[in-house]
Parts: sequence; structure tokens; C-alpha cells
Amino acid sequence: KLKLAVLTSGGDSAGMNAVVRAVVKTAIIKGCETWIVREGYEGLVRGNTEGHRHTHTHAEKGGASPRLKGAEFHEAESFIHNLRYGDGELLKDGTGDHPGGRTLKGRYIVRVGWDDVRGWFSEGGTLIGTARSVAFRTREGRLTAAQNMIKEGIDALVVCGGDGSLTGADVFRAEWPGLVSELHNEKRITDEQATAHAHLKIVGLVGSIDNDMSMTDLTIGAPTALHRICESIDNINSTAYSHSRAFVLEVMGRHCGWLALMAAVSCGADFVLIPENPPDADNWADEMCQSIQSHRDIGKRKTIVIVAEGALDSKLQPIHSEQVKEILSERLGLDTRVTTLGHTQRGGRPCAMDRILPTLQGIEAVEALLESTPDSPSYMIGVRENKITRVPLMDAVKMTREVAQAISEKNFEKAMSLRDPEFRE
Ligand code: F6P
Repeated sequence: KLKLAVLTSGGDSAGMNAVVRAVVKTAIIKGCETWIVREGYEGLVRGNTEGHRHTHTHAEKGGASPRLKGAEFHEAESFIHNLRYGDGELLKDGTGDHPGGRTLKGRYIVRVGWDDVRGWFSEGGTLIGTARSVAFRTREGRLTAAQNMIKEGIDALVVCGGDGSLTGADVFRAEWPGLVSELHNEKRITDEQATAHAHLKIVGLVGSIDNDMSMTDLTIGAPTALHRICESIDNINSTAYSHSRAFVLEVMGRHCGWLALMAAVSCGADFVLIPENPPDADNWADEMCQSIQSHRDIGKRKTIVIVAEGALDSKLQPIHSEQVKEILSERLGLDTRVTTLGHTQRGGRPCAMDRILPTLQGIEAVEALLESTPDSPSYMIGVRENKITRVPLMDAVKMTREVAQAISEKNFEKAMSLRDPEFRE
């Protein structure tokens, strides 16, 4: 019987809660025991402090019943309440219990059951929290994380995050036997624990709004972020039209231009600037102005330019939205405003695709863990051509890094071929 924990790591993305829900429910159906880890890898390192008053989750109360009644209902309610409001002070300790008086303070690895994750797929962000853990980047931190997992009896980990988080997962798995023998030698775990936890099983799911991971078509959260951007552009359009203005919209995506490009296609933008196709450093401004002027000449009252936050020119110099605004104002005389969409792109309820995809991938993740052997690689669950896929996690991470490298070397054809196998063929 697998004892499985799920965590979310890195920047949050819509659909992460659906991952947790799908993993927990599938694992229970398959006869596993399930935990959530709060605050990403940081929660693994912090583990559970004894002696804190706490809310019992359904699973801890031994409640296998999927029905909620009376006091049980309040337990589940307060578990979710505490995740949301009662215990937000990750970096403080001890004080500030919410009025209910029962918190999850001091408990980062929490046993959960069916009812604890009920309805989670429609919630934005990640209810179990995420953090960029400095401690987990050190071997000492990972040693403590391993000890905390073994203490709870956990032998499998589902990680939902971006490429950095998934790399961390693979490093942890590779180190695991060494960590276990060190803990054993230092008598931090018993002989039985060392034998029972000789191997760690890990699977990764890609949660990121950027859609920047190779070997999968769509990362969890990218469709919702794109949807948010489209809604914002629709809103901007009406005011832009009214004043016959130009708007420069800066969208997220880190080093990847997927959100910007897809938003431009979805909203009929006049011009788009993305890192993967850097315009000629010497004349991109001319090209942009000509194109926009030609749209104005045929009667267009509004102008929309989308700038990816990582946009570069052919000399690999960053292109900033303020710079684009200056060009439009000065050369074309357009009344121009800049709107940086920021974190509105990342928050909010997941769209349908970010409920379906994480659900199917969550199911596949549990199956991959159940089939995992000490010799099999850690898998990343992805989607290719509408089919849920399993690829060795490190192959995907390696290829993602190669894309970034190719872009920094201005080898865009190589970057495209790595990101998109169709292009390669
Ligand atoms: O990777 C997701 C992302 O939203 C990027 O698009 C953006 O560059 C970055 O995270 C923002 O990070 P933070 O939330 O730490 O400001």
C-alpha cells in the first residue's frame, strides 16, 4: 500500500488544486494513504512540530466515509478554513491563532482523505500553499525533509511545479538512498524505517502559467492565464476604441512568449514582441510603426501591442513596454498607455481545460507511481496531441534547458525544434 504525499511548488497556477484533488481521490480509490504537504518543499523540511493544537482532517479521524454529517462537516470546513485563513504566517510561529482556536500551525505534512479535497477543482491558486524554499536547496535541508517523510511513513511524492521544482524532485530521488543511510547512521531513523524506505518514488506534473516546458503541449494553468489575458484585452479594447488610443500590454511568461503570442492571435493584436522571434535590433521599431500606421490608414481606431515580459531584440537586448510606448507616441503621435497585466493573469478560478487536464494527469500520476520500480526513471506527466503522456522527468527538464540555451545563442531554429517535435520532423 503506497503512502503518498502531494505538494505544489514554485509560482502558483490555476489547476494546482485540481491536481491535489485528483491525486488524493485516485490514490484512495487505489488503496493508498494520502498526505498533503503545505508550502511546497519548505513544508517537507519543516515537517510536523509536536504539541500544537490542530484540526483533525477526515483521514486523521479515521473517517473513510465520503459523506459529511454534523461535527464531521465542521471538521472538514475548518480544515479548509485553516488552510486559507488560519495559518498564513509561514514565517512566524506560535502566535495569531484564528478565532476558531484550532490551526494547522506547526504541521506541514497533513494526512488527508476524500472529503478534505472535495470541490477543490474550481478553486484558484494553490490551497496547500507554495514557497520558494532555500532550505530544500541544501543537502542538510533535504536530509531533514527525508527524515520528516519517513517519520510520517511516506514513500511516494507527487510534485506539481515548474522546471526548477521538478529538477529538485529528481535530485531528491537520486540522493534518497544516501540520505536514508545517513539518517540511519545518525540514528535519526530506526532499522525498520531504513529498510522500509529504501527507495523513494516521485512523479512530476507541470504547473506553470508560462507553458515553457518541453515534451508537453500545455502546462497546468497556462490556458487559464491566457483566458485572463483575453478578458483583460477585451476590457482594454472598449476604452482604447473610445479614445482612439494605443495600448501596450505587457504579459507574463518569464522567458517564454507563448502567452503573448497566443493572446495576440486570440485578440487580433496589431503587433507582438516575444523572445523566441526577436525582431531586428536596427529596424524593429520602423517595422512596428509601418504596420500599425497601415492599420490606422484603413480606419482602425485602436492599437494593441503585446509585449512578452521576456521580449528581446536580435541583439538579445530586452524590449520594454515603456520603450514601445515612447516609440508609438513620438513616431506615430498616438495617445499611448501601458498596462502591465501582472498577477491578475495568474489568479482566479481555473477554466475548464485547467480542471480537465489536471484531473486526467493526476490520475496518470498515481498510476505511474503504482507502476514505478527502483529502476524506472521518475516520470513527468504531460499531454501531447490530446493524449496524457509519461516521459522521463529529466529528459523534459534537460530539453527545456537546451531551449533556453539555444535562445541565448540566437539559434532559434534549434529552439523551435526542441520545443516542438513536429517542427523537427
Ligand atoms: O513562472 C510564473 C510567473 O508568473 C512568470 O510568468 C513571472 O515571470 C513570474 O512567475 C513572477 O514571479 P513572482 O510571482 O515571484 O513575481
